[in-house]
Amino acid sequence: MDKRSFLKNVGMMGLAAPLSFAHLEQVVAAVQHLDPADLASDEDFWLKVRGDYDLKPDYINLENGYYCFMPRQTMNHLVEHMRSVNYEGSYYMRTVQWENKNKVANKVAEIVGCTAEEVALTRNTTESLDLIIGGMDWKAGDEAVMAEQDYGAMLNHFKFVERRFGVVNRFVSVPNHPKDDQELVDLYASAITDKTRLLMVCHMINITGQILPVRKIVDMAHSRGVEVMVDGAHAFSHIDFKMKDLDCDYYGTSLHKWLSAPLGSGMLYVKKEKIDTVWPLLSERDLEPNDMRRLNHIGTHPVHTDLAILNAIEYQNTIGLGRKEARLKFLQNYWTSQVRGLPRVVVNTPADMNRHGGIGNVGIEGIEPSDLADQLMKDYRIFTVAIDRPGVRGLRITPNVYTTTKELDALVSAIRELSA
Ligand SMILES: Cc1ncc(COP(=O)(O)O)c(C=O)c1O
Repeated sequence: MDKRSFLKNVGMMGLAAPLSFAHLEQVVAAVQHLDPADLASDEDFWLKVRGDYDLKPDYINLENGYYCFMPRQTMNHLVEHMRSVNYEGSYYMRTVQWENKNKVANKVAEIVGCTAEEVALTRNTTESLDLIIGGMDWKAGDEAVMAEQDYGAMLNHFKFVERRFGVVNRFVSVPNHPKDDQELVDLYASAITDKTRLLMVCHMINITGQILPVRKIVDMAHSRGVEVMVDGAHAFSHIDFKMKDLDCDYYGTSLHKWLSAPLGSGMLYVKKEKIDTVWPLLSERDLEPNDMRRLNHIGTHPVHTDLAILNAIEYQNTIGLGRKEARLKFLQNYWTSQVRGLPRVVVNTPADMNRHGGIGNVGIEGIEPSDLADQLMKDYRIFTVAIDRPGVRGLRITPNVYTTTKELDALVSAIRELSA
């Protein structure tokens, strides 16, 4: 073996893992003929998927929105990658580190149908989106549009550019039960002025699970000369979409959420022709202005995480994103349809199947969200998170592919009892 192919083989150790999800492959092969919508309610199939997860028996985990921990096999791969990178040391870093990173970027790009040249692997959504907010060439008086229901880290960074550059931030408040898409498009349009440069919109609002009509909002904003940055923290690998269908300028997400990649992995997409308009946070050396790597000079970092992203993608591809999306929607609808309309129960997520994925939010009138979360955990061993934000007071309920309808029955019966 010559030196180059030896180095290549050593460096590819982690990538060349044998087919890692063989059992899952067999399980999925047996249901290939089924429509994802029919498979969504097939508890036997999803129980087999559940078998891939090491679940803590102390409580029912309905808080996967923070992050979706890895199935056992991805976790084992991560440990193996850590071992092999550590074994090779600088050898790995100096030979195939970048080649491998590029492979990962290609695979991540494939999920949303864009090119790797438009993708940077980041640590999370916060890094991805704050890089854009902080990297715009702001002038005093420029305006940005966002929603009260957007995520705190991004709202804070807009506050920061307000203080630093004199940007004016304008807010809309997204209704939990919109009449139609036009109502939402008009809402965002109403906040745009001739000074607006950037509009931020959630693909899926994290506190309610509502999916917004991003393409329609993008078209409206573009027609008024405004760029659009999409917060895709909860939509990526949760619902199936392609970047060209959205036509947004910037998109950020966390891969440790619905892709179930290791903690500390994220993605930033920037439309090719916009890359050279963004100031990097940390400068890169001698790269062309439209080279995405300009925005992503992070120095030496835990590269084994990158490698495990490939395993997470393989796991998701084996299940099939369409099947996963259908199951998550089914689970949400399974419990919300049983509690909607109960006295004192307020569901803060639209019922329309096109306006939600797996996330739902429920409150009980007269009970503080934090008390409700405490009570569910203490008396029913159900783990959720309390949300107390403008227009949204309740518990965010985020099941995952391993969640059973039996677990959701426990949630429904707890809500019935507590609201009675
Ligand atoms: C809508 C939304 N945006 C951004 C983030 C930030 O994600 P991260 O902490 O992975 O950067 C979250 C986290 O929950 C979120 O829900």
